[in-house]
Amino acid sequence: MPIQKIRKIAISTGGGDAPGLNAVIRAVVLASVNKGWECYGIREGYNGLLSPENYPAGGVFPLTPASVAGITHLGGTILGTTNRGSPTQFPMLQPDGSFIEVDRTDELVERFNAAGLDALVTVGGDGSLSIGYILAQKGLRVVGVPKTIDNDLDRTFMTFGFDTAVSFATECLDRLHTTATSHRRIMVVEVMGRYAGWIALHAGIAGNADIILIPEIPYDIEKVAEVIRERERKGRTYTVVVVAEGAKALGGGVSVTGKAVGQAEKLGGVGDKVAHQLEALTGKEARTVVLGHLLRGGSPTSFDRLVALRFGAAAVRALDEGQSAVMVSLNPPTVRYEPLKEAVKRMKTVPLDSDTVDTARDLGISFGD
Ligand code: F6P
Repeated sequence: MPIQKIRKIAISTGGGDAPGLNAVIRAVVLASVNKGWECYGIREGYNGLLSPENYPAGGVFPLTPASVAGITHLGGTILGTTNRGSPTQFPMLQPDGSFIEVDRTDELVERFNAAGLDALVTVGGDGSLSIGYILAQKGLRVVGVPKTIDNDLDRTFMTFGFDTAVSFATECLDRLHTTATSHRRIMVVEVMGRYAGWIALHAGIAGNADIILIPEIPYDIEKVAEVIRERERKGRTYTVVVVAEGAKALGGGVSVTGKAVGQAEKLGGVGDKVAHQLEALTGKEARTVVLGHLLRGGSPTSFDRLVALRFGAAAVRALDEGQSAVMVSLNPPTVRYEPLKEAVKRMKTVPLDSDTVDTARDLGISFGD
């Protein structure tokens, strides 16, 4: 069958923001305009199409080379994003004040086609890419671009945003070492990462942490305390502990702060928990620093910018070649394409047999196991 000619494409950014999103948008716009296509932005995930009444300036708006000039280095996304209200489970307010979740994907496809759009580039994490796969099954031409600071997407060596998050967390650990030493304290640094320990592991090693707690290796708090006591005996009177927000004690669960309507559970609190327990067990003063959303902000590193620009351009090439239901993927040294169906099947966690975990152990870093 001949490939249907593309004239108009749309780009959407969904889920939590990550440094590099604007670089992807710029690359998609410039590459598609180079092919003679028009490019449009959908505001805040798919909300610009599903709830256009909320956007007086237009829920879907033209993106031109001028509108994406000078944005490669900017954090955030000029399209806006949301991690609430997936079109598969869209929360609709009921007269009694409660919410019901409604599948609005058919309506989304209709609205997409009615806007005269021929193809979609969806930039997001597992949630956005899963929605992209559903839309592709319903007939849209879709290419996914993997994004997340958490680096937990399968079928890609890395996602953009991760390097920036790790670099910033490493800088924070460098700064915390001097104050930890001066006060002979335990500094517990909680980092994002959801149910995967990539940020904690990479920043912890690069930033010389003494203990790293990740979801993949449940910790025993007594063993963590013993590492600190042993350090004391050797004259190391401070300890820096990096805790992934999804870390859990042996036999325990993740620490959750709540759940809003239409949103995934919010992780958090494990840093404070660990700090309090370590104070009680070691008698040493402990402080908690939660890096949280600071890891999502700021300018992307040059590595993330380059990956994001390559991903954006590759997404346009994929559409031009007639591909659909694929995700662009970094398979060093090349950018390749993976079936979306495979990419969203499982979460990529830290493999326990990786040389990075071995390196940490070889350097004397404890995982509390
Ligand atoms: O997936 C990215 C991420 O930053 C996670 O690391 C974190 O758990 C979550 O988003 C927080 O999202 P928000 O506070 O924006 O709801």
